[in-house]
Amino acid sequence: MAPSRVDAIHTATYSSSKVQERVQTGDWRDDFFRDGFAVIKNVLPKDRAQQYRSDSLTWLESFGLGFDRNDKSTWKKENLPQNWKGGMYLHFSAAHEKYMWDIRCEPGVIKPFSELWETDELVVSFDTVNITLPQSIVGAYDSSPWPHVDQAPERRGLRCVQGIVNLSNSGPDDGGLVVMRKSSSLFNQFFDENPVTGPTPWRTAKHEDFHPFQQKDLDWYRAQGCELMKVCAEPGDLILWDSRQMHWAQFGESDLIRTIAYVTYTPAAWMSEEDRLSKKELFEHYETTTHWPHTNLFSHGKAMVTVDGVETPDPLERDEPITKPIKTEKLLKLAGALPY
Ligand SMILES: [Fe+2]
Repeated sequence: MAPSRVDAIHTATYSSSKVQERVQTGDWRDDFFRDGFAVIKNVLPKDRAQQYRSDSLTWLESFGLGFDRNDKSTWKKENLPQNWKGGMYLHFSAAHEKYMWDIRCEPGVIKPFSELWETDELVVSFDTVNITLPQSIVGAYDSSPWPHVDQAPERRGLRCVQGIVNLSNSGPDDGGLVVMRKSSSLFNQFFDENPVTGPTPWRTAKHEDFHPFQQKDLDWYRAQGCELMKVCAEPGDLILWDSRQMHWAQFGESDLIRTIAYVTYTPAAWMSEEDRLSKKELFEHYETTTHWPHTNLFSHGKAMVTVDGVETPDPLERDEPITKPIKTEKLLKLAGALPY
């Protein structure tokens, strides 16, 4: 029988990581390896974070659907292009707008990933922006908490660390990331004691590295000493979390527009040449992908709408960003378009 994709994950060689998960470094990595996440302060100056936030809102206004950041009466769900979970824009070349690439190329954003993976030769995900209007103004979102990990149960070890560049404040009442603190280190134990059985309809190719949890699973982690916590951060801060850490996004109670950029970097050496060429093609077509930079290179595809029962391309869809990135050597290497 031909091996399944899951088998492929079992047998994939990821042993090139030199990362020692328990070595004390005296910096943010100690928090990260202890808690499964860390907040690194001021990777961007506040004014630059503010400028990127402004750029993202300009982008959202560019669709001409009526949303105006300066007029709260226009803050309505129907004045926005289609999105996922209230604020993630997976289409419209959103991941490749110039300001998004400017963020990805920021030395302060890259540095923690270089420290973590002990290399400067990194590739970055084509994640997107999250601009979530506040529930206090637009009404409650039709979404319950969705505790999950972004790493397949079969893929063991530290393989992916996700990031959020915070462009708006994320205080206790604002929207933001919720994590089950210290859950990443229990990943193997959880899935050994709770093997996945039965249908797994979420395991599409694009979401191979994903596992949703049930309420009883939260109780399991709590019984091991883990605790749920809202991660608070200020504009310009970088939040990092292990993809084995249980997490989800919490909608806020304040009237602030949550504005963040997702960034994930992994060593370029972990990416096969075949995957690099796939990534290069996705980059050249300005596609948005998963959180994973070096594997799981699948596009979210074009935005579609249903008209008279027929699925058809969303007229708002774009083939390229409204402001294209400047393709520097650094950018092209991070994109996988140029090898190191
Ligand atoms: Fe996630």
